[in-house]
Amino acid sequence: MNILEIIEKKRDKKELTKEEMEYFIQEYTKGKIADYQAAALIMGIYINGMTDKELVNLTMAMANSGDIIDLSKIDGIIVDKHSTGGVGDKVSIILLPLVSSVGVKVAKMSGRGLGFTGGTVDKLESIPGYKTNIPEEEFIKNVNEIGISMISQTANIAPADKKIYSLRDAISCVESIPLIASSIMSKKIASGAAKIVLEVTYGKGAFMKTVEEAKKLAEEMVKIGNLANRETRYILTSMDEPLGYAIGNNLEIKEAVQFLKGEIEPKDLKEVVLELGAHMIKLAGLGENLEENKKIMLENIKNGKAYNKFVEMVKRQGGDISYLENLEKFEKSKYEIDILSEKTGKIKEVKADVIAKYVCNLGAGRIRKEDNIDMTVGMILNKKVGDVVTKGEKIATIHTNKATEKIKPEDIGIII
Ligand code: URA
Repeated sequence: MNILEIIEKKRDKKELTKEEMEYFIQEYTKGKIADYQAAALIMGIYINGMTDKELVNLTMAMANSGDIIDLSKIDGIIVDKHSTGGVGDKVSIILLPLVSSVGVKVAKMSGRGLGFTGGTVDKLESIPGYKTNIPEEEFIKNVNEIGISMISQTANIAPADKKIYSLRDAISCVESIPLIASSIMSKKIASGAAKIVLEVTYGKGAFMKTVEEAKKLAEEMVKIGNLANRETRYILTSMDEPLGYAIGNNLEIKEAVQFLKGEIEPKDLKEVVLELGAHMIKLAGLGENLEENKKIMLENIKNGKAYNKFVEMVKRQGGDISYLENLEKFEKSKYEIDILSEKTGKIKEVKADVIAKYVCNLGAGRIRKEDNIDMTVGMILNKKVGDVVTKGEKIATIHTNKATEKIKPEDIGIII
């Protein structure tokens, strides 16, 4: 077998075998196949697509190219959750303690964010003392003893995907649904969960711009999951405007804590959390009826069990829980600049993509992997799409450490 024969087969629309996919992935990861040859094959896949067999074989070969996390020492069914990304996305921070309070075992390893705001791990690290880099044995012990642990991903997960993703970026082959599906699923499979719930986002702040594209991607990922013996479900979420009202690391933690305490319940955030949670509880075998599952979760917010579970996890991982009890303790940015409406009317758009870039420039996100994140900066929205505003009313507050000139609503993507 050699790479030329494999490229030729794909070029001529013939199906690649499992052995050929494995050969390509293994040899390319080792650096034994040149980038230009891998580029030719990836372009062949981009243009000619993949059969179901090729799709699952490529995914499994990428999953097997690095470490496979072994979660077998955890008693109970592990259900993982993955989102294709959003702005103001604090879903995991609310959802995971919440489902854990219902009995779902949560063993979550998350990445750091690149671009936009930080990832879940960055947000958790804005709680002073919270350790996201505990050893794997401690992680497993925590899940077995208290039912939840959320840490950063340090293992070498799917290195083949990392290499192929950069190559796709360099040859205009990122926007391929089968390639995106296999890229995401290879990492999920290597992360060890037997069951997976996916949140596939669409709209201005998402990878997929339309609901149709998002549905196609979701179905492709479910197909891979099921063929790879990982029971997989999905939900679709609109990401035209940010989720909830807070965007930025410690601002989002504060919103998540208030949600868990039952003090606030932004409608869009509540819907996503309950929908994902209902599926996670069902996949864990703890409740067949999705509506019933939602009721149990709402009950656990009211009776304090969800918040207490979060406090238990934070405490266990070294976090200072006095910050959760008193949110005023969180460090604040130097400046808070109110954005006032220049007219009376209805909010037409709150553009998630514009807000994401704006807060990233304030320092809430990373442009390069090694960049430091400013936990204090970001934005609090006072209004969402459809809300009425009067002239002079506050529609958002910018939290920043840079002195800034007057900001107009349209500068931050808010259209009235
Ligand atoms: N996210 C991934 O992990 N892979 C892709 O290909 C696209 C988005």
